This record gives sequence, structure tokens and C-alpha cells, in this order.
Amino acid sequence: MENIIEQNRQWIDETWEKIDKKLSRVAVKSRNKIPYTTINGVHDNKIDDAPAWWTNGFWGGMMWLMYIATKNEEYRITAETSEKLMDKALKMYKELHHDVGFMWNILSGVSYRYTGNEDSKTRFLYAASVLASRFNIKGKFIRAWNDWEGNEHEGWTIIDSMMNIPLLYRASYEIGDDRFKYIALEHANMTIRDHIRPDGSVVHIVSHDPQTGDAIETIAGQGYAVGSSWSRGQAWAIYGFVLSYIHTGIQEYLDTAKQVAHYFIACVCDDYLPKVDFRAPDEPVLYDSTAGACAACGLIEIAKCVPEHEKKIYINAAMKLLKAMEKEFCNWSEDEDAILMMGTERYTGGIHMPIIYGDYFFVEAIYKLKGNEFLSW
Ligand code: GLY
Repeated sequence: MENIIEQNRQWIDETWEKIDKKLSRVAVKSRNKIPYTTINGVHDNKIDDAPAWWTNGFWGGMMWLMYIATKNEEYRITAETSEKLMDKALKMYKELHHDVGFMWNILSGVSYRYTGNEDSKTRFLYAASVLASRFNIKGKFIRAWNDWEGNEHEGWTIIDSMMNIPLLYRASYEIGDDRFKYIALEHANMTIRDHIRPDGSVVHIVSHDPQTGDAIETIAGQGYAVGSSWSRGQAWAIYGFVLSYIHTGIQEYLDTAKQVAHYFIACVCDDYLPKVDFRAPDEPVLYDSTAGACAACGLIEIAKCVPEHEKKIYINAAMKLLKAMEKEFCNWSEDEDAILMMGTERYTGGIHMPIIYGDYFFVEAIYKLKGNEFLSW
């Protein structure tokens, strides 16, 4: 693994310099915003019209990563500003959802774990309590979303929640009581049973009987169709399962992360530019850079967990994804606040756009390759 990183050292260092050059400027410029995308190159702001939007932790989380790696105070100030802006969302219990791990684990959780800030600790434990409160004790799963008009779905689970349950492992360490962790384990075990197909591809949404937990049907969600393979869902599974392994040591979680990773690598190995869905028709050509960036983070962590002779499979794939996307999808211009273009929210009606979590995971991947060991999840 070290050899492969050394062979790519110049590219890693140059890419990190470009990230720091852009973000040190944008950190100040967008300090009082919670960005999601850019409009004409300028960050938008979610905090007024959608404070509980699921991506609102990524900007502050990325600022923490930059601060940890560089110790540039501008990043810390923006991260702390972002966390305080997010207090508006923390008070909106009815608007909150399964994605509170994305929102507060990498924001307040990191702030607390890195600086010892007690207010951040309270925020992250509160978010963990919100997530735990979504556990269906009969069905043994964490419920996805809240009902929306004309669609009640008490029994729905989604692959994305694998990225949220690290919040529960972290909360259990913090309070010295495994009750949060037990919820995470039940949810991860359900996910292996009901979301991971034998070929390593992943189902986005499963509808369960909320009284028994029995799987009733699979639903397409943000991918192309029922039975297809939404690439960001594959990435959530790769990184989510290796994180569950890191937090628990349970081998089945690492094996599942590897299984999904093998499928992902097979699907991208022609040019390492991930499509939105690996089982969609050839036209239209829709990419999702966010899937590649998140998968790269998971692959790097898998490489750290497997024996020496296996590491190169995962680190090579991560390097190829990151290098291909840097060449084709990154925008280093000062006229653009975002870094990674060509994200796509969903297959149907999908359009290419920069999305904040694409930048977050791209930055996190290069941060890891630079040797930063502090894990934000
Ligand atoms: N968690 C929703 C998404 O991946 O778009």
C-alpha cells in the first residue's frame, strides 16, 4: 500500500495543494453559508430555506478535515460557524430523519473528538438519540425518511443509513453503554440480509412489514429501476460496511464491504468514471462523481484493514478513481467555489452538478492519502 501511495506521491501532494488553495479562499467567502451546490460558480445557501436538509453537515465537516490537516485557523472558524448555524436544524425534531449521522457525526462529532468542545458533544449525542429513536424494535431496522403526502412508508429502509450508523457506535463509546451500538448492529445485519444481493450489487430501498421486519419488496429509489444498481448506493455500502467493521471488528462487515467493492470496481474498470447507475441503458450517459469519491474513501479504509497482499486491489482502485475524476471532473478555477463537478442527485431527471458531499468525499480521500489518520466517521 505504501509503495502505491509513494508512486503517486507527487500527484497526491499537488492535488492537496490545489484543494487547500481553493478551500482556504472559499472557507472565508462562504463562511456564513451552508452550501449544497453552486450557481454560476457561487455557493448557494441552505440554512434559511432548508436547515434540516440532509447534506448540511458536509461543508462544516470538510472545514474540520482541512483544519485538522493544515491547522489553518480560517478553516476552524468556518467549521465552528457552520456548527452553530446548524443549531436551527437540531431543534426541528419533526423535520429530522435518518441522515442525522451525515449531519452531525462529521460536524459536531469531529469537533468534540478533536477539540473536546462540550457543546459539540451535546449536539452529537442529541443527534445520536434522534437516530436511535427511529429504530423499529419489532422490525429491527432504522426507519428511512418521514412520511410525505400520499406516501406512508413506516417499513422503508435504505442503504444510505449504513453511513449514518457510525454515529451510534461513536455515541456508545462516549456514554460507555452499548445501547446505541446494539441498534447499529441490528440495522447493519438487516442491511446485509435485505439490501446486499449475492453478486455484490445493492438495493437502494427495501419495504418491510413494520410489525415483523419481513422484507416485502424492493424499490428503485434514486437508481434507474427496480433491480438496477445505483452507484452512490454501492458507495454508501462500501464505506458504510468498512466503517461498521472498524467500529466493531465484526469480520462479516469487512467481507460485505469487500464484496460490494469488488462489484463496484468491476463496473468502473474501463475508465474509472462512475455512471449514476451501473445497470442503466447506455444512453443517456449520466455520471455521478459523488459515488466515485465516497467509494474511494471506503476503498482506502478497506486497504488499511486487509492483509498486506490484498491491499493493492483496493488502493489501486481508489487511486484510479481519484486520478480519473481529478482529470475529467475537477474544476480548480477561482471562478468556481466547488471542486468536483458531475455529481448527480438521482437517475430520473438527473442533471450534472457539483454537490457538496462530492467535494467532501474527494477532500477526505486525498486527506487520507496524505497520511492524516483522524477518522471523522
Ligand atoms: N442520501 C441521499 C442520497 O444519497 O442522495
